[in-house]
Amino acid sequence: MSDDRDERAIDHHGADFARDHHALYREARGSCPVLHSGAHGRFAIVTRYADNRAALRDSATFSSGRFALDNGRLGGGVAIPPNGMRIGMIEMDAPRAGELRAILQPWFTIPAVEAASARIGQISRWLIDTLIERGACDVVDDLAKPMPSLLILDVLGLSLDRWRDYGRVLHEAVAKSSGSIEGLRWLAADLRRSVAEGDYDQDGLLAALMAAEVQGEPLGAAMVCELAMMLLFGGTDTTIAAIGHMLRHLTEHPEDRARLIAEPARIGAAVEEIFRLHSPSTGVARTVMAPIEIAGSSFAPGDRVMFAINSANRDEAVFVDAERFNLDRPKRPHLAFGWGAHACLGQNLARADLRIFLTEILERMPDFQVDLDRAERYTSIPLVNGHARMPMRFTPGTPSQSPVGTWPVLTMPRLRPIA
Ligand code: HEM
Repeated sequence: MSDDRDERAIDHHGADFARDHHALYREARGSCPVLHSGAHGRFAIVTRYADNRAALRDSATFSSGRFALDNGRLGGGVAIPPNGMRIGMIEMDAPRAGELRAILQPWFTIPAVEAASARIGQISRWLIDTLIERGACDVVDDLAKPMPSLLILDVLGLSLDRWRDYGRVLHEAVAKSSGSIEGLRWLAADLRRSVAEGDYDQDGLLAALMAAEVQGEPLGAAMVCELAMMLLFGGTDTTIAAIGHMLRHLTEHPEDRARLIAEPARIGAAVEEIFRLHSPSTGVARTVMAPIEIAGSSFAPGDRVMFAINSANRDEAVFVDAERFNLDRPKRPHLAFGWGAHACLGQNLARADLRIFLTEILERMPDFQVDLDRAERYTSIPLVNGHARMPMRFTPGTPSQSPVGTWPVLTMPRLRPIA
């Protein structure tokens, strides 16, 4: 990073940062749009929407790939400091990233997700059935965590009986809780075993990956497991965070909740505003491959840059009254799912998931109240900004079916590419 600006003591892993980042970014967008940090071997943070979007589209200059460092470890990738291991094509460059993405893409198109929406509804209904009689729950543990864990296990074609363990491990890994490394080892081993033993449904995504070829070569079990890990990682804690932000917002803003109950057609707009205003992914990192300037800051090959998509999504130059949730906001693409070649593969699924789940919650638990005094936000948000705990109360109701099993029985068509 060849310029002489202040290197502020910014550490995006720190508790101060988690508490104050919106104020820091607001000031930066106005006066000093590229922040420089001496932490984690030095990196820069790009805060404005236009700069984020342009750079994320330019994957030749800004690499997602992993590179061997002098100390033998793997550098690069989409996290600062780098993840312990590569997590699929999200940490690869062209052409390999595109080849792998092309195999997965047909599973996550809008028509494919729409055709599976009744099945997402079955998961939502079962989940609410498990707790509707209680009148109280923890949003994170009881509602938000099970939803994406069940959904992605089902997409992969893995047995749903392990959703609790998968959900816990993936949430802890992102929230950096104690025990997360051990849990991840267990999850990786469980995936490897399932793949080796063929312990998955033949009409799920794992089976399709095992049968897939790139230029006449099968992917192989190791790559299939890596891609499955990527989907589990990419889709779980981000969705958990989005559900938490949604229920918190609707407790803090009863006028928005009343409007959604009266006009369920606006639920899609509400989901989009939550993604924009409370972007679950805080930022994505890249390695600079060629000399370039961003908003007056010069970068050299090898420099590490974090693209703060949660800052971009509150940029007043693009979103009027940007820090306000607005159900009538004119449509304008936000960057909560990234942009360009690596834009979120699961975004259609995430949108449908949130919309269907929120519709079910508003119908069956319309008076829910998050306990705002006891809700705990993450104290470290390097990758995902969410909540660790969120107690909630509501008027008890009746399960839609009896008995309520220990996992949902899914009979509606599963997610599949549309022929
Ligand atoms: C609220 C939910 C979600 C959010 C906020 C989110 C956010 C993101 C972001 C910001 C990226 C870009 C990463 C980069 O540019 O380096 C990304 C990529 C990705 N996401 Fe998501 N995601 C969500 C849900 C999901 C789900 C449900 C899945 C899968 C089932 C998924 C799978 C992926 C994959 C595979 C990539 C990598 C795409 C590529 O490299 O070509 N995500 N996501």
